[in-house]
Amino acid sequence: MFAIVHTRASIGVSAPEVTVEVHLSGGLPALSIVGLPETGVRESKERVRSALINVGFEFPARRITINLAPADLPKEGGRFDLPIALGILAASGQIPADRLADCEVLGELSLDGRLRPLKGVIPAVLAAREAGRRLLIPSANAEEAALASEGDVLAATTLLQTCEYFCERGALDVVTAGDETDVVAEGPDLVDVRGQHVPRRALEVAAAGGHNLLMFGPPGTGKSMLASRLPGILPPLSTGAALEVASVHSVAGLLSGKQSWRRPPYRAPHHTASAVALVGGGSNPRPGEISLAHRGVLFMDELPEFDRKVLEVLREPMESGEVSISRAARQVTYPARFQVVGAMNPCPCGYSGHPSIDCQCSPQQVARYRSKISGPLLDRFDLHVEVPVQSGDVLLRTQPDGESSEGVRERVAKARQRQMARGQINALLAGNALRDATRLDSKGEQLLSSAMDRLGLSARALHRILRVARTLADLDGCEEVSQSHLVEALGYRKLDRKQSV
Ligand SMILES: Nc1ncnc2c1ncn2[C@@H]1O[C@H](COP(=O)(O)OP(=O)(O)O)[C@@H](O)[C@H]1O
Ligand SMILES: [Mg+2]
Repeated sequence: MFAIVHTRASIGVSAPEVTVEVHLSGGLPALSIVGLPETGVRESKERVRSALINVGFEFPARRITINLAPADLPKEGGRFDLPIALGILAASGQIPADRLADCEVLGELSLDGRLRPLKGVIPAVLAAREAGRRLLIPSANAEEAALASEGDVLAATTLLQTCEYFCERGALDVVTAGDETDVVAEGPDLVDVRGQHVPRRALEVAAAGGHNLLMFGPPGTGKSMLASRLPGILPPLSTGAALEVASVHSVAGLLSGKQSWRRPPYRAPHHTASAVALVGGGSNPRPGEISLAHRGVLFMDELPEFDRKVLEVLREPMESGEVSISRAARQVTYPARFQVVGAMNPCPCGYSGHPSIDCQCSPQQVARYRSKISGPLLDRFDLHVEVPVQSGDVLLRTQPDGESSEGVRERVAKARQRQMARGQINALLAGNALRDATRLDSKGEQLLSSAMDRLGLSARALHRILRVARTLADLDGCEEVSQSHLVEALGYRKLDRKQSV
């Protein structure tokens, strides 16, 4: 009259183990669920009762107590329906209890006993493997689970099918690891971009060193176009990184098995996005855009139009690579190591510096617009680059006038290897590591110090320049940072200067 079923909750990107204990005892027929269930779980009673009866099982006319252990772990959603139903069937002897021991089960039930998909399957697949058990999931989640499956995941479409399996009267589909789609083939390609040689180069540098990039220029010059091509020149994700990304997207319910899972994610939240949408939140905190962009690119178009408060909350995760969200009694940490590409117009009307359209803005308006990006935020961009208007004949060229993403990606990958041999990507270099990686000869030092005086650059800007120069040297395959690298790096600090843009 007692049964145990193993399952998993979903807290952030973790999937802590939950044991469903079912006890049938004498007394008036009743069903109670204990162990900190939230509304969705309490409603489970009704779904389980209907599903069992509709499938043709007997719903025990006993006093049923269901304990979801550990009791201090909050439990949400319909994911416990299937384990509860199986527990009731096992406790009442309708299916054998012993076969449940080496299996974990997840699934929401519909009233007629079909299994509905749920969020956060990937973390559960990984955690079940760690625990040495197979995992049974709804078939609708199979495509997603295939990303992480090693043949230890089973998929079922109905409660009945699940019971047949546990009674050894039927088999279930084993979810096999999906074919790896070609990362190269997907997404937009740099070959479509006409002209814009300097911004293209800056994009390559940003990709190589993991630098944040700020682009400014009039509307329609190709800023969004360039930004969307960054994931395609980044190195494909390692298996570990790809699983981290898949876990976050799985928890957000955004994962489909169709996407190429080794391609770094690209997220482009609108400038009206709230702080919660950006950093995450909600009663059971969901990941925000910065976590969905983990190990990939966060494109912030019209950067000055974002709410200033929203921009300021970004600063901390930009440094720490993760974000902690506190809601009532619980705290959840999501990974958030993303690369930012910002885009902005040079002024509110967008046409300051345009070769043929007059700018309508007063100097005060321009200053106010620029000041929306605070110093500390601007400081987190290693590269500032202008994306100017291209002439008609450049844009109308039918033949590509630049490389395709593939060639760029190869150089980026080589430059990354050089960085990893030193220990970390250049964007993260600081202190002694930065000094050691960027030793300058006396000419280089002279050049840099006179440039700093002339342009009024801060000590922080100096570090940015050194990091970028290091990346330029890595792209060239050079051990030493040379003068030409410094000169080029200085060219990517346009917004530091008083007379900027
Ligand atoms: N340099 C360019 N080469 C090819 N097409 C371009 C270029 N610049 C702009 N375009 C075209 O104009 C469209 C708008 O560009 P977009 O990237 O949205 O500009 P922005 O973000 O700077 O306002 C693009 O989708 C593309 O079709
Ligand atoms: Mg745009």
